[in-house]
Parts: sequence; structure tokens; C-alpha cells
Amino acid sequence: MSAQGKGTFPLFDEQRSADIVNARIGADVDPRTRQIAQTVVKHLHAAVKEIEPTHEEWLAAIRFLTDTGRMCTDWRQEFILLSDVLGVSMLVDAINHRRPGAATENTILGPFFVEGVPLSASGANICLDGKGEPLVVQAEVVDIEGHPVQGAVVDVWQTNEDGFYDVQQKGVQPDGNLRGKFQSDAQGRFWFRTVKPREYPIPDDGPVGKLLAKLGRHPNRAAHIHFIIQAPGYETVITHVFAPDCPYLGEDAVFGVKESLVGRFEKIEDPTRARSFAVSSPFWLTAPSFVLQRNNEKRPAKS
Ligand code: BEZ
Ligand code: FE
Repeated sequence: MSAQGKGTFPLFDEQRSADIVNARIGADVDPRTRQIAQTVVKHLHAAVKEIEPTHEEWLAAIRFLTDTGRMCTDWRQEFILLSDVLGVSMLVDAINHRRPGAATENTILGPFFVEGVPLSASGANICLDGKGEPLVVQAEVVDIEGHPVQGAVVDVWQTNEDGFYDVQQKGVQPDGNLRGKFQSDAQGRFWFRTVKPREYPIPDDGPVGKLLAKLGRHPNRAAHIHFIIQAPGYETVITHVFAPDCPYLGEDAVFGVKESLVGRFEKIEDPTRARSFAVSSPFWLTAPSFVLQRNNEKRPAKS
């Protein structure tokens, strides 16, 4: 038999392993699929050559991925969580949302967004369980030139004082606790009452949690409020406002913190002002400005 074997492809060889595998890709495969497959095989083989795993180690890796898949349900996506803690979710987002400096930056969506939340009037109190320190959010939505964007629809969600989203504690928290949807007015403004967000752990009762523990990493996210801002003609922004005094800002479990997203929170000890917002005193106040770029705005090049 020739060194080529029976077929037209080279036989396996340690040195040229990635090229040998990639040579099997069909001639008619579409170019993007070919590029992705070739790149993944190239880097996977390079990693295996660098690591030189034992059979036991390779089996442990297969078992980890199997467990990760088994953990997935309609409500739990352990592979996305894995991508989150490895910084890949943030990287994919960064590649796809290069924006001019003035525009509000994106960050991670996370698994706890709920579609179809009804619109609330500006000023609504989204905290339905009465726990936590009152926070007033006075927000504006503007374009890159600073003009107000009227009619932007803004989804808002956060954990409660115990560090859980309502959907993680059905029957414990009121449905819709700490979730809202608002619309910006002619000045681009809307406001709502909530509670100061606090740090909380990402779901860590599965293989990803075990991985974090094995790597000496904690599962905590820096305290934040989620926002999605959508307006016709503008690029949708999926972002957070982070509490500036959170000890986990520098070590968020999913790498979601960006300098520009750390809010300014003012503690106000003035009963008259508290009454004007219908909150108890003292309370916190933050005034985020969300800057949208038009759909056709020029994108900065890869840095
Ligand atoms: C969140 O912020 O809700 C979140 C993000 C990534 C993983 C888990 C939770
Ligand atoms: Fe979150």
C-alpha cells in the first residue's frame, strides 16, 4: 500500500495533524464554514500539542463538556455560562459592537432577560419586595450629538437584595420584581424607583461553578442594573450601570465591567427631596446618559 493509503488523503501524522484533518474538508464547502473549521482545528491541535494531555486528562475534558451539555435546559444554558466565564462572550460582543467613543458601550446580556415586560409610566417603582436601599434612576437617551432621542424603549432588570432575579425565585419573589420597561419622553428622559444593586453569584451549582472553584476564582458579578435601549434607526444597546462602590468591580466573574459603565451614585440625606421622589430618606440617586449611534454610523476599525 502506498504512503497515501487507499484514498487520496494523507494518513495521520503527529507533526502535520491539523493540516491532514483540514485537507478532508470538501471542495464545495462554503468559504466561511471552511475558514471557521480550519481555524478551530488548527488551534485545537496546537493546544493539544502544547498541553500533551494524558488519556485521563483528555477524558476529564470530555466528561466536563458532557456534564456541561447535560446541565442545559430551556432555563439554563451552561455553555453560554462557560463562554461568559472564559471571557469569550465579552470578546464576541466587543468584535460585533465597535462604537465611536461617545456612544454607550455594550456589555454582557446574561441569562435573566425576560421579553414582553409591559411598559410602565415614568416614575414607577420596580421594587415589589420592599427590600434594599432606595435608588432613584433619572436617565436620558441621546444621540451622538447630544440631541434627545424620544420614544426609546428601555428594558431594565436587576437582582433583589438577596442577590437573585425574580425568575430564579418563582414563588419567593413577586413576579416581575425589579423589572421594568420605560419610554423616553420628548427630552429623551425617563426615571424610575428601584433599589441599589448589589453583587451576586452567577449560577455556580453546575460544571462551570466547579471549574471556577478549581481555578481559584469566585463566581461573583459586580453590582449592576441591566439596560437594553432600543430606538428606531439606532443601534440597540445592551448594557449595565455598575454601582461604583462595589468591591467586585475589578474582578467581575464574566468580565462585564467597562470603565465607562461605572455609574455615579450619590447618597442623599434630604427628606424633602426624598418626598419629591416618593422614596424614603436617605436614598441613592444616579443619572445615566445612554448615547445611541445611528444604524448607519461609521464604525471604528479593529484596534
Ligand atoms: C447577569 O448579569 O445576569 C449574568 C451574566 C452572565 C452570567 C450570569 C448572569
Ligand atoms: Fe445581572
